[in-house]
Formats: sequence, structure tokens, C-alpha cells
Amino acid sequence: MRCFSSFLAVLTAIANLAGATFADDADGQKVQPIAVVKLDRSNPVSYAKDIEPIFIKKCRVCHSPPVTEAKFNLRTYQSLRKGGKHGTVIVPGKSAESLLVKLVGRTDAKAFMPPEDEEPLSPSELALIKLWIDQGAKPPAAGKHNRIKLQPLSAAVRLVRALAVTADNSIVAAGRANQIHVYDISTGEFTRSLLDPELKSSAGKPTKAAHLGIVESLVASPDNTTLASGNFGEIAV
Ligand code: HEC
Repeated sequence: MRCFSSFLAVLTAIANLAGATFADDADGQKVQPIAVVKLDRSNPVSYAKDIEPIFIKKCRVCHSPPVTEAKFNLRTYQSLRKGGKHGTVIVPGKSAESLLVKLVGRTDAKAFMPPEDEEPLSPSELALIKLWIDQGAKPPAAGKHNRIKLQPLSAAVRLVRALAVTADNSIVAAGRANQIHVYDISTGEFTRSLLDPELKSSAGKPTKAAHLGIVESLVASPDNTTLASGNFGEIAV
């Protein structure tokens, strides 16, 4: 009898040991860690191309405004690095020490992510996140496309969006992109371009154009002397 109870004690101790390793699910079952696989990959892991899509697919529903569970916001690289209510979740260069990896790899004693009933990470997704952190958790490259820079319209843009013919049928004016070209109808010849001398580009240079944007409408006055042109939010006479 004595022997049996100590055998039970040993069994309980082993069970507790196992229990100390991984979190429980709602039914008290131990959750299984995500399998560890090695990626066959030599190029650097990209935050924008490889990592962010995983967060979008499996995390952002609970970790991107308006919902930021545990004050952990995965909307940007910067907010990811800031961490959650327990502070930073990534140790660059050390995936094994990163809380994020313990949670998504399901090796943390207390919790795992995403929570139960949500689709866990696949082994290759986990491996990508680990490799990215081990490579230094580098930020996304600041792409040139991140900021809009206004530039003069290319000379190749000559689309005609608006036309006006004077009442005496002598002149036709055509809005060509942001310029207004005037033609003599009897000869078909180009006579002049109507410019706004005051018009400056956002860099402060004269534009040699009628509008900053594309000329959307044109109309001639009945007495054949005046032309009104419009583009978005602007009229010139
Ligand atoms: C269904 C909602 C949901 C999804 C999906 C989800 N989480 Fe969570 N997450 C939570 C909740 C709720 C907590 C808070 C848990 C707690 O405090 O016990 C949390 C906490 C965390 C924390 C702890 C932050 C801190 O400082 O305490 C991290 C890190 C985290 N989640 C990462 C992720 C990652 C990475 C994913 C995607 C792989 C993910 N979560 C998917 C709901 C979610």
C-alpha cells in the first residue's frame, strides 16, 4: 500500500511537470506546441511581404483598432515593436526569448495565441516569424511609394476631356490635360495655349498650364470673347 501511494505521487509529479510546460485549453487539455520546422531559405525575411500577411490573416481581427486586446496593436511595425500591456513582445535576434514566439508557438506556460477556436499558426508561419526575429526583426523598407509627391504632369499626358466651340464657329478650345489649346476652325491650325501666369507648382515653379489638375470643362461666352474653364474645385475665366 505504501509502495502504491508513492507510485501515485511520482505519477502526479510527472503530470505536474508536463503541466508546467504548456498552457491549458478550456477543457483542461494541454495545448500542443506548434511543430518546429526548418525553413529552406537564404534570403532575408521581409516584414512587409512575409510577416505582416500572417498578422493580417490570423491576428488583426483582435489586435488592430478598433479592437486592441491586451493593448497590443499589430497595425504597424512600430506598434508591434511597442508591445502590449506587458511591454515589448519581441527581442530582436532572440526568437526563443520573445513573448510573441512563445505565445504563437504555444510553448508558454500560461497562454497561447491566437486563442482557442481560432486557427493556430502553421509550422511554416511560425518558422518565418522566428527567422525574422533571429535576423534582427528588421523594419519594412521605407518604400518610395509610401509618400505621395506632386509632380508636373508628364508632357505625354495630352488627353482631351473638354471642348468648347465659340458661337460664331470660328474657334475651338480643347482642354488637353492641364492646358487649354485654341485652334482656328477655318484653317485647323493651333493658334495659342491659354496659360494662367499666376499658377505655381507645389514646388513654387511657374507651370505653363491653365490649371494644376486636368481641365474637366470648358465653355465659351455667347459673345465669343470669353472662355471659362474648370477642374476639380476651381474655375478660371
Ligand atoms: C480572437 C481574438 C484574438 C486573436 C485572433 C489573437 N489574439 Fe492575441 N490576445 C487576445 C486577447 C483576449 C489577449 C489578452 C489575453 C490575456 O490577457 O489573458 C491577447 C494577448 C496577446 C498578447 C499579449 C500582449 C501583452 O502585452 O499582454 C500577444 C503578444 C498577442 N496576443 C499576440 C497575438 C498574435 C501574434 C496573434 C496572431 C497570431 C493573436 N494574438 C491573435 C485576443 C486575440
